[in-house]
Amino acid sequence: MNTPINYEIVKEEIEKSGLPIVGNATIREIVRLVNRIEARSGEKFIRMEMGVPGLEPPQIAIDAEIEALKSGVSSKYPMMEGDAQLKIEISRFAKLFLDIDVHSEHCLPTVGSMQGAMACFMVANRNNKDREGTLFIDPGFPVQKQQCKVLGHNYYSFDVYNYRGQKLRAKIEDFFKTGKISTILYSNPNNPSWIAFTEEELQIIAELADKYDVIVLEDLAYFGMDFRHDYSKPGQPPYQPTVAKYTDNYILLISSSKSFSNAGQRIGMMLISNKLFTRRYPDLKRYYATDGFGYSMIYGALYALSSGVTHSAQKGLAALLKATNDGQFNFVEHVREYGSRAKEMKRIFVENGFKIVYDKDLDEPIADGFYFTYSYPEMTGIELLEKMLYYGISAISLNITNSERIEGIRACVSQTHPSRFPILEQRLKQFHNDHKK
Ligand SMILES: Cc1ncc(COP(=O)(O)O)c(C=O)c1O
Repeated sequence: MNTPINYEIVKEEIEKSGLPIVGNATIREIVRLVNRIEARSGEKFIRMEMGVPGLEPPQIAIDAEIEALKSGVSSKYPMMEGDAQLKIEISRFAKLFLDIDVHSEHCLPTVGSMQGAMACFMVANRNNKDREGTLFIDPGFPVQKQQCKVLGHNYYSFDVYNYRGQKLRAKIEDFFKTGKISTILYSNPNNPSWIAFTEEELQIIAELADKYDVIVLEDLAYFGMDFRHDYSKPGQPPYQPTVAKYTDNYILLISSSKSFSNAGQRIGMMLISNKLFTRRYPDLKRYYATDGFGYSMIYGALYALSSGVTHSAQKGLAALLKATNDGQFNFVEHVREYGSRAKEMKRIFVENGFKIVYDKDLDEPIADGFYFTYSYPEMTGIELLEKMLYYGISAISLNITNSERIEGIRACVSQTHPSRFPILEQRLKQFHNDHKK
């Protein structure tokens, strides 16, 4: 009971939280619990539960936002389809960093990718009355399932780890054959496992999407952050891999939160393929005024959700993208720091008896990025998460990401500055001493 954080305080706060199983709590529930323990104990945790940028926002975006506010934009409603300059820069970004053509009219700002996903479900899961919902390639970001749930959509899911490469085809096809799937969603690189799909795998997903007329929702929340490859040079290969190379049946969700350290401004990008945007689905008329896909997205779903995106946030992102597209700002260099943190933190965990759960990306060791996953011998992730709270280390269990690896925990590296690595090491050493058999 001689733990780094006062044992009684942690125990009492866990009891007071009212969480039936603390190890199964959502990200925001862990955030609240740890805030309380920190406040009462006066001790700082190694906080790894929330994927929040740990770097300063780029000055270009701040300056452009301030300028926009000073010019008086805030008294006016923003246009639903987005700021014209921003739309052009998003379209340029798609050309220069993905090597794809998406007309600027089909590039939309959203209130974070979170709202983008919600709007996608509201339209793409309702375009065919005989279909039921989304197939998630998991492990994944839990809130997107919450969105499906609150919309009353069904969803299906499988853990991708054992279905890499050509094995992916039969697995996805089993779901698609049921005729119930409207959309398929995955993040690439994957939150939480950090595996990254290959061109071959993206081609398989695209082929099946075309064969079964399923819309691919490609979540690029960690755009360019597979640091094994340099995706940072505008108009030069290698490009961030995307399914959009292989099908027209896609929507891309590009978040500005992590790759551009802009999470608080709640602005993301939705890119709808030129073909899908203009496609007509008669069943949409059950919910929207027209059968047009793009029109329903903008004047049906996004209108209903927030009636546009804050002017100044759009201006900030437009300036940032312009600098990026013009080669004046290297967004990947700005966030590469996460990769070096992950490398060192993984070393500290492994040297103290922990194992990396999703340890391989096909035949290669998993890349060092924003997240990594770990376990400790003979403990479930749920047990481990709770025990580690007494050692001042917080994270989330893989259980809530629909992972099959119930022994695992997801750790986010962003909030742990390298100056705190010695404390992490000390706490993990004590944990190992107290628990090794
Ligand atoms: C996979 C994934 N998708 C979407 C989001 C949400 O992004 P945003 O902050 O743009 O709403 C996150 C945030 O953590 C994420 O990890």
